[in-house]
Amino acid sequence: MKRLAVLFVFFFCSIPHRLMSQVSRGQPFIWAVASASYQVEGAYLADGKGLSNWDVLTNTYHITEGLTGKNQTGNIAINEYDRTQYLKDLALMKQLGVTSYRFSISWSRLLPQGTGKVNEKGIAHYNQFIDDLLSNGIEPMITLFHWDLPQALQEKGGWQNPESVQWFEDYANLVFKSYGDKVKKYITFNEPWEDRFLFTPAIDNILNKKTNPIAFTEEQLANCAVAAHHLLLANALVIRDFHQKKKGGMIGITLSLSPTIPVDPSNAADVKAAQLMDGFHNRWFLDPVFKGRYPPEILDIYQRVNPDFEPSAADYALFAANKPDFLGINYYAPDYISANKDMAFGINMFTPNPDAVPMFNGPVRPEYLYKMLMRLKKDYNNPLMIITENGAGFGSGDDSLVGKSVNDQLRVDYIKRHIDTAMQARRDGANLQGYTLWSIFDNFEWVFGYGRRFGIVYVDFETQERIPKKSFYAYQEIIKSYLKK
Ligand code: FCB
Repeated sequence: MKRLAVLFVFFFCSIPHRLMSQVSRGQPFIWAVASASYQVEGAYLADGKGLSNWDVLTNTYHITEGLTGKNQTGNIAINEYDRTQYLKDLALMKQLGVTSYRFSISWSRLLPQGTGKVNEKGIAHYNQFIDDLLSNGIEPMITLFHWDLPQALQEKGGWQNPESVQWFEDYANLVFKSYGDKVKKYITFNEPWEDRFLFTPAIDNILNKKTNPIAFTEEQLANCAVAAHHLLLANALVIRDFHQKKKGGMIGITLSLSPTIPVDPSNAADVKAAQLMDGFHNRWFLDPVFKGRYPPEILDIYQRVNPDFEPSAADYALFAANKPDFLGINYYAPDYISANKDMAFGINMFTPNPDAVPMFNGPVRPEYLYKMLMRLKKDYNNPLMIITENGAGFGSGDDSLVGKSVNDQLRVDYIKRHIDTAMQARRDGANLQGYTLWSIFDNFEWVFGYGRRFGIVYVDFETQERIPKKSFYAYQEIIKSYLKK
């Protein structure tokens, strides 16, 4: 008996800590890459698909022109709808060694008008795609909504319309019915803060020809809170439906979590602005999702501007009763915040990136990813967490194609440092169960068109040629080394 005990102790002490936490949690760590329908699929009119808001924003309103001077669309994107193309791309993913692929479904392919009549060809497309993923040994992780709303619903007010809750619930149930037997991981929404509080008012300002599209008004933002509330109600209902179906698997929501740093930590106004911004951006979503209520001080601010915004006790009960099985975390960078009386709620969230070589999505600060994961452990009861996006793009020649290679050393460093710090948080007890890189391929980067590359595979947007970058091989090595452990 004693000998057995000694052997037992010896055995467990000799397992590297990292592996031990995997063993004890039972599930293999997920290594993934991500994309979103509008950014990669193209084929915007194929097989009965209806128009999405992004089809209209690009084709009718030329939304990329303001920032890039070019009129670009996702009409072709990187041609991912085409099976001949995507089979080659899946072969690259297999070569990369990922265990999972996070992609989103285009709502208007399944329901061209957003509700009502189903487009069977759209259903068949994702069925085939899912089968092809599975036969390559890659687990699908479906995002239900990554910003492309059917235009027919946009014209009815989109998320501002309380009926949007029902629209989304019906669409989600169609997805579960169609793919629920073979897809076991779902994400309801991608980055509701960016979608509702950043892109929506910015796009409104562009369409209304405001000189500064990011000069939001307090009324605009308080209005966005109403739409975001519909989205959170839809999130809770769909989580409830998914659980009631008992088909197995997990459902979560993906939040963009950006720690906020005062530009001048010795200035009390900057410190206060940074705390407030944390409330607006991070806690506004984390609290209802995990604690069943909004942060009171932020709710107060919105209600002062819009007294009609009044979430009910039933809404809170719905939140509290329907928590996600996991939290998807998109982390790119922290936000430097300063106080500015002329800006909405006295906050300037658009301070310049202080780094010598600026990354598109903000300053490179991997230590803040660690802090965020540990904060979630402490303040939100350590939910099961999957990093659903992390990645980088630099406008500094990091993506230059020289012959047939791209030596994207800045991206390589970014990825390595962020994975290291995430794994450190995991060793320190954060319940992190997966890492997803954004993105496998260069693609259509929303209002920035094709000018911002985030891929680890270079795409020639004219010929659709794919060229793995240095970061592709670096990520491949990282995955290999962790899977071996
Ligand atoms: C995230 C989006 C994703 C992509 C990356 C670079 O905010 O979710 O679609 O645009 O940024």
